[in-house]
Amino acid sequence: MACILAIGTATLDLIFTLTHYPDEDAELRAIELRTSPGGNAANTLVVLSQLGHACAFGGVLADGSEAAPILECMAKHGIDLTACRRVLGRPPTSCVLLNLEGGTRTIVHHRDLSEYSDEDFRRIDLTPFDWVHFEGRDGPETARMVRRVRESRPDLPCSVEVEKPRPGIEAVFADVGMLIFSRVYANHLGFDTPRPFLFKIREQVPQAGLILTWGKEGAYGLDHRGEIHHSPAFSPVEVKDTLGAGDTFNAGLIDAYLRGFGLAKALSHACRLAGKKCGQLGLEGLGVNFSR
Ligand code: FRU
Repeated sequence: MACILAIGTATLDLIFTLTHYPDEDAELRAIELRTSPGGNAANTLVVLSQLGHACAFGGVLADGSEAAPILECMAKHGIDLTACRRVLGRPPTSCVLLNLEGGTRTIVHHRDLSEYSDEDFRRIDLTPFDWVHFEGRDGPETARMVRRVRESRPDLPCSVEVEKPRPGIEAVFADVGMLIFSRVYANHLGFDTPRPFLFKIREQVPQAGLILTWGKEGAYGLDHRGEIHHSPAFSPVEVKDTLGAGDTFNAGLIDAYLRGFGLAKALSHACRLAGKKCGQLGLEGLGVNFSR
């Protein structure tokens, strides 16, 4: 069992399951409405805890009654919240349209909480941790936190998820051991295929393991010898819910590295876990019968 710290968000997701995607200005009845805790870093920890790891979350937590499902979920999975900053307010909330037709999840997100900062992060004693993972949000703040990890615990493996283009996020690249990019980010930089993107990033970032998720085509990684590895996606027979599939992939990747797997095996491990997630609703039970 390893001890993992993740920094990022915990949200409240209102998930409307639909038979098809609505037209603008249409009225459509949802088949189901679920309320579920979410947020990339929180989701990743919920999965990691089910894979047998001890987890701690650092983020800004709203203290109102609306945040109760988030706190219950964290408690259920034994996720330590000591590193969180508590504030009065409403939790970041997502309206998620889950379209059964193609398994897509369309997210409308609202947040009025401040971001977790380097000042918050400095209060954390990093001694017990075996891995620290950042959801790449505020670029300069995340870069400062990552730098602190490098300076105070150079031996501590550190990953950053670069899911969306955010101002200044590139500042984290120089200090991090593993960068996990999304297709959205690669597309934003003008790349519509994985290999040229990974080789371009390698020019700026010689030290990091580079990972790129590519939806239904699985995931790619570039190792330090310049070799590209690829794992196909493990699509379930029926795609039921893709919400949090990327966060689950990240958990699978971290779990794989903590088990000492190499890049190729880590990619397929993470894709298998993400595939399992897509075949079920929510994140509960992902550790059950997941062979390693
Ligand atoms: C899924 C997710 C949701 C959340 C949204 C925030 O990856 O973390 O749980 O509402 O993304 O962007």
